[in-house]
Amino acid sequence: MKLTRTLTLLFLLISMHTMAQKEPNYDESKVPALSLPDLFISESGAYIKSKTEWENVRKPEIFKLFEREVYGQIPKDFDQITFELVSQTANPYEDISTLEEVNITVLRNGKSHTMRLNFFLPKTGNGPFPVILLINYKPKYADGRLNEEGFWPVKELIERGFATASFHAETVAPDQVESFQSGIISTLYPEQSGLADGIKALGAWGWGAMRAMDYFEHHPKVDSQKSILVGFSRSGKAALWTSANDPRWAITFANESGCGGAALSKRKFGETVEAINRRFPHWFADNFKKYNENEESLPLDQHMLPGLIAPRAVYYASAREDQWADPKGEYLGLSLGSRVYSEIYGKKAEFLTEFEQFSGPVHLESVGYHIREGKHNLTWEDWRIFLEFVEKNL
Ligand code: GCU
Repeated sequence: MKLTRTLTLLFLLISMHTMAQKEPNYDESKVPALSLPDLFISESGAYIKSKTEWENVRKPEIFKLFEREVYGQIPKDFDQITFELVSQTANPYEDISTLEEVNITVLRNGKSHTMRLNFFLPKTGNGPFPVILLINYKPKYADGRLNEEGFWPVKELIERGFATASFHAETVAPDQVESFQSGIISTLYPEQSGLADGIKALGAWGWGAMRAMDYFEHHPKVDSQKSILVGFSRSGKAALWTSANDPRWAITFANESGCGGAALSKRKFGETVEAINRRFPHWFADNFKKYNENEESLPLDQHMLPGLIAPRAVYYASAREDQWADPKGEYLGLSLGSRVYSEIYGKKAEFLTEFEQFSGPVHLESVGYHIREGKHNLTWEDWRIFLEFVEKNL
């Protein structure tokens, strides 16, 4: 009897909790009228027109806003970094590539952390090769041997003359609220914990990408000036913040990165700030939670992110059925943000078409976008179209 009552009470509590969670909005007519912070008006009210003003005034202001309010500060300092080649094999693509499995060990304040990088090099030619890094968070693709649907199409990339590498996000920060700190945060950067603008998992994954770049820079067969950073969904969000922090990436590709990545938060379409912070409280800085159901008071929006990467190339992609990630919000984030490329850097980067009107990929100077049919995934089709952009922009 007592058990039944307890169970009924539990059931009631769970249903109340579920009801309290808002249904996502997928109705364009319910999207609020957008009032976005102006890219080019500085905090002192000055209108920013020149490259010098952009780089010295406005860009640092916007960077600080994202760092403090959204992603947290990726730490840049450490005492030592070492690279250990743990194994070198011809598998799994023995005719065309070599796989180097590398342990990257970083030392800071007497503590060390090791992450694993899987790095494929073409066998044809001496290089130096351009390199593509994928931040991977899917367990089954950890070693690059699995290439279902092209998630990490190692063979195709090698055949096109790229070196390609991937690290598993969990070797830097586990993707769980209970344990995300047990990677680099508790070991190397314990002072980040508890800070309202301290990094969490996304920032830690970005740090991992930077350490992979350290490896590329020291590798004689890599042309690190031609490095491409790729992330999908949660790792797409991380890739964008990484590239905003680290100018060594020539091209950054965020595939279906959605809320907290490419998509405008103030549209509140699909995943919202509240929804992402509730399900993934271990991704963004604690400050971002101030904007749960309060997007209006965000002093920025995601259209200000591409400008932190400019003039280096940036590429977004969406999938038509991936409404949770808000394809239109992703498109707007990039098309509005591309004004930094055109107005400050003089590139041919104006998006001339409304989201509803275009079909094929929009490949402009240093800025590109495509939308494909289908669901949330990183597919060979995404890579194939992206590589056409790379050909013109690397
Ligand atoms: C969830 C999450 C998204 C994220 C996605 C992913 O759907 O809500 O924000 O992008 O997972 O990483 O696949």
